[in-house]
Amino acid sequence: MVRFTKVLVASLAFGLIETTVAIQHVLKGGKVCRYMPGDPEWPSVETWNKLNETVGGRLIKTVALSDICYESASTYDAGKCEDIKNGWAFTEIHARDPGSFNSPILQNGTDPFQTERPSSLGNLPAYTIDVRTWKDAAAGIKFAKENKVRLTIKNTGHDLLGKSAGAGSLSLWTHKLKTLTAEDYESPRYTGKAIRMGAGIQGHEAYELAANLGLRVVGGSCPSVGLAGGYTQGGGHGVLNNIYGLAADQVLEWEVVTASGQLVVATPEQNKDLYWALSGGGPGTFGVVMSMTVRAHPDGPVSEVSFTFTDAGISKDIFWAALEKFHTHLSSLHNAGGQAIIAIIDNVFMLNGVTFPDKDIKHVKTAIKPWLEELTELGIQFQPQFTTYPTYFAFVEKRYGPLPNGPYPSSQLSVSRLIPREVIEKDNHQLTKAFRKASEAGPFFVALTSLHLPNPAVENSVNPLFRTAATLWVTTMMWDFSAPRSQNLAAWDTLVTEVLPMMKEVTGGDEGASYLNEGTTRQADWRGAFFGGNLERLEEIKGKWDGEGVFWAETGVGSAGWKVEGGRLCRVDKEGGRSWLKTEL
Ligand SMILES: Cc1cc2nc3c(=O)[nH]c(=O)nc-3n(C[C@H](O)[C@H](O)[C@H](O)COP(=O)(O)OP(=O)(O)OC[C@H]3O[C@@H](n4cnc5c(N)ncnc54)[C@H](O)[C@@H]3O)c2cc1C
Ligand SMILES: *[C@@H]1O[C@H](CO)[C@@H](O)[C@H](O)[C@H]1NC(C)=O
Ligand SMILES: *[C@@H]1O[C@H](CO)[C@@H](O)[C@H](O)[C@H]1NC(C)=O
Repeated sequence: MVRFTKVLVASLAFGLIETTVAIQHVLKGGKVCRYMPGDPEWPSVETWNKLNETVGGRLIKTVALSDICYESASTYDAGKCEDIKNGWAFTEIHARDPGSFNSPILQNGTDPFQTERPSSLGNLPAYTIDVRTWKDAAAGIKFAKENKVRLTIKNTGHDLLGKSAGAGSLSLWTHKLKTLTAEDYESPRYTGKAIRMGAGIQGHEAYELAANLGLRVVGGSCPSVGLAGGYTQGGGHGVLNNIYGLAADQVLEWEVVTASGQLVVATPEQNKDLYWALSGGGPGTFGVVMSMTVRAHPDGPVSEVSFTFTDAGISKDIFWAALEKFHTHLSSLHNAGGQAIIAIIDNVFMLNGVTFPDKDIKHVKTAIKPWLEELTELGIQFQPQFTTYPTYFAFVEKRYGPLPNGPYPSSQLSVSRLIPREVIEKDNHQLTKAFRKASEAGPFFVALTSLHLPNPAVENSVNPLFRTAATLWVTTMMWDFSAPRSQNLAAWDTLVTEVLPMMKEVTGGDEGASYLNEGTTRQADWRGAFFGGNLERLEEIKGKWDGEGVFWAETGVGSAGWKVEGGRLCRVDKEGGRSWLKTEL
């Protein structure tokens, strides 16, 4: 039973405040925290069983995916363990498991490479609701509020910052929300083809439906990312951005379960503020998205040019001059309708395509010629491949396949910066030097996705600096599960403390931006870097729709009032004097 009473809560962080809280909510030392398994106040088995009845038997008690690897586990299975180990660095096994997630930092001890069976679930949730209807989500929200249990939301678990993980949480798993329909959409601002997708739809599923109808939708380079989850709510970049805008710019409608347990529809006309916040303001923060409806565009051929070269036979200076020259041609490539993706690791330069939707090879050859001629003059040897795919889907299958999951390991840690157009105009040489230093600082991928975004049809909360950026620069390390954790963490430290400041210096310093889905909170002003000029309005909207702080992600707007300490989520002082919490939960 929860007893409410007026108490004076003495907390180091707050001083003395008078507030209405549940007595049991205050732990030793006056701290206000969420309960964890093992606490006397943790919901009883009967209480969990009741929740299970409410959600139609779809409550799942977490068993770590890695558990079958340990002889003392009742499920021990050496063969299956091998599969788990082989798949661990990739997305699939985490996406289909209720609790598992990709972030290697937060996996902390629950991966299958531990010599001993872990004694705790680490950052895995305690329980998961396999959400099939909005009422399941509402029941989970109500339960978490009543029982002071941490709430998390997981779709595929891809999130590189671990936003879908949470120790001792009740997780709402949206992966099985697989409805997918095409429709003729009519609204005051848009009349045309649209695709309505459940929150569990992954990129390849939406692309395939669209292709069958002669349409395309915006998605990213990993075909298994959940489109309506972190990807679109965080912005969403991909090769169709330069003609249609970011993924967040495509949204016509969100269906959302709010912190108060209501199902609402958010569009540019209805619940406008929620629409604005969900479209780019970061996931897991404003509500549980049940479905998203996006603009669908007429399909057509997609052409690209790609090649790879190494530094064999050329100096390092020449190798890096190729990148500098690329940047001098970027705006003309953009004007010709191209979008470039480049990845450099060690001595390998990969043009993973300059992609030209709706153009033919002749057009691509003309557009790319000036840069390629300069590469040849530099003495670089390469064999450009020009390809036209009949549809966007055919392009995706080839470039990002094999479908459904793609070739990419997902055990990545990244830092990112948007490169403003004026940096390329004024500081191209400095920029190249920074890329080179970043690449030489460790076993890191430096990658760029070029951007030349059209203005969005409807205003949204994507960091405005995306609109004036020429590229998104992401530097990434792959977690090496065969190496000790300490070694991986040391490389991550280098990335955060040496490489990121360098990237920052050349891209606008404190005035610049990082992409919230490929970034880190280990930078002093990460809120400014992620949300830019939208931060205050996002915080207001957070306060309006979730004033109690039901939804919490470390990297989300409004997270400052809480902190994970020793695995437990507790109230702390509000950073920077920002106050958005109306009441204690
Ligand atoms: C291999 C790989 C390639 C990538 N490529 C790209 C790329 O090309 N472009 C790009 O922009 N990004 C890319 N990303 C980053 C990607 O956008 C993020 O990882 C994103 O968060 C994944 O969203 P998800 O819903 O699939 O993952 P999850 O980890 O399940 O969820 C991510 C976040 O969304 C929240 N969330 C999930 N579902 C819901 C919901 N229904 N309602 C509310 N909140 C929800 C979660 O709480 C969490 O905070 C890539 C990631 C990987 C691993
Ligand atoms: C919930 O109920 C279903 C169906 O009765 C059962 O299979 C499942 O184990 C229950 N979950 C929990 C956590 O007890
Ligand atoms: C990892 O686990 C150790 C030991 O349980 C703990 O001290 C540490 O805080 C954890 N780190 C993270 C990031 O969860």
